[in-house]
Amino acid sequence: MQTGLVNEARALAERELSESLPRRWRHVTAVAAKAERLATLLPAERDRLALVAAAVLHDVGYAPSVAVTGFHPLDGARWLQSIKFDGRVAALVAHHTNALVEAELRGLAADLLDEFDREDSPVTDLLWFCDLTTGPDGQDFSVQERVEEVRQRYGLAQWFGSSSTEAPGSSTKWRSGWKHCSHHLTRCRAPQAASDHGQCASA
Ligand SMILES: [Fe+2]
Repeated sequence: MQTGLVNEARALAERELSESLPRRWRHVTAVAAKAERLATLLPAERDRLALVAAAVLHDVGYAPSVAVTGFHPLDGARWLQSIKFDGRVAALVAHHTNALVEAELRGLAADLLDEFDREDSPVTDLLWFCDLTTGPDGQDFSVQERVEEVRQRYGLAQWFGSSSTEAPGSSTKWRSGWKHCSHHLTRCRAPQAASDHGQCASA
């Protein structure tokens, strides 16, 4: 996929992440490659481009040159807005992979919702799916493995349930967030299955 929007996204993400955070960059390139494969399921070109560009940029807020609040979805989206990057892509980055739940825990939910629209679409489903099924080194993960990896990395035992095979259980916010996440992932399975049969089923 070689278009202006995606090429620009790749150049920005590579510049900000590849040297400063090489492990994060490996994760991002794998998420983007997965998004590019799954983008073929989307009938509209504008959706395919938005998905891949958002996948490339979804973690740019981790870059030391971009981070401000320490909450990477908001930092990345604000930075994209500041350089006048595509507004839809910035909003997808702002809300990627259930960012609103962490925003609530950090007291940043109002900022996130005031500044960026929360899209509910097959593009969102696929973006979350790609991120949630890709590990920190770019390896394929099941959702359960990914949740466990995040839980251990950040020491989020107080937010997630005690078992990686269970939905996060100790916090109402995480529980409702997990439900929302599961809803997106379930919807992702429809286009994936349809892909096996050579057709597109958009939710
Ligand atoms: Fe990610």
